[in-house]
Amino acid sequence: MTFITVEGIEGCGKSTLIAGLKERLRARPVETIVTREPGGTPVGDAMREIFLKPGLEIAPLTEALLINAARAQHVVDLIDPALARGALVLCDRFVDSTLAYQGYGRGIDLAFLQEICDTATGGLVPDLTFVLDLPVPISRERIASRDGGARDRMEREDPGFYERVRRGFLDLAERSPIYHVLDATKPPEELIAQAYRLLTGVLV
Ligand SMILES: Nc1ncnc2c1ncn2[C@@H]1O[C@H](COP(=O)(O)OP(=O)(O)OP(=O)(O)O)[C@@H](O)[C@H]1O
Ligand SMILES: [Mg+2]
Repeated sequence: MTFITVEGIEGCGKSTLIAGLKERLRARPVETIVTREPGGTPVGDAMREIFLKPGLEIAPLTEALLINAARAQHVVDLIDPALARGALVLCDRFVDSTLAYQGYGRGIDLAFLQEICDTATGGLVPDLTFVLDLPVPISRERIASRDGGARDRMEREDPGFYERVRRGFLDLAERSPIYHVLDATKPPEELIAQAYRLLTGVLV
């Protein structure tokens, strides 16, 4: 019954960290579910396609509502049932990404966003959140060298947008002790070991 989220800008290493944690957790007698936002369910994946489609001009409010529509389905269909049966859920992005991107990045009021998010999640909050902090230029380099450099809609924003989003994540991480900011320039193995130590600390 542990809910862990991993946050940070594009290419900071979220998927790499989650894969490493999942591998290490195999040694433990606990069901581990890996999921992501937007997505995680057939409805959410269909919305993810719209969300990331290059060339679509999506208004900031539409973006915020769309991501939370997908989230509501994700929580009801997948996350809540998994937690209820005692699984450990590792989620690639969650509410903090909405606050960082649509709030700090696009300028939507944070209190308003938090309300929509709370409605979508039914008040579910993570037990632990890792924020992978990476300078924007390094994130750009990593994206460029991955998958032949193909970029989705969110990866086409200007560097100033990502600077605001990065600052946003760091700001959010100050709010509560559930957050752990990790230096994402460290080698993957080091990050996985550090995160795993923190994660096992919250497992009951
Ligand atoms: N700690 C690290 N040091 C150096 N390179 C890394 C590190 N972690 C991941 N990478 C590499 O950087 C690229 C992006 O990593 P990854 O896909 O895990 O990031 P992400 O945060 O999941 O990105 P996205 O937000 O686009 O899903 C990959 O090519 C990956 O191999
Ligand atoms: Mg990823």
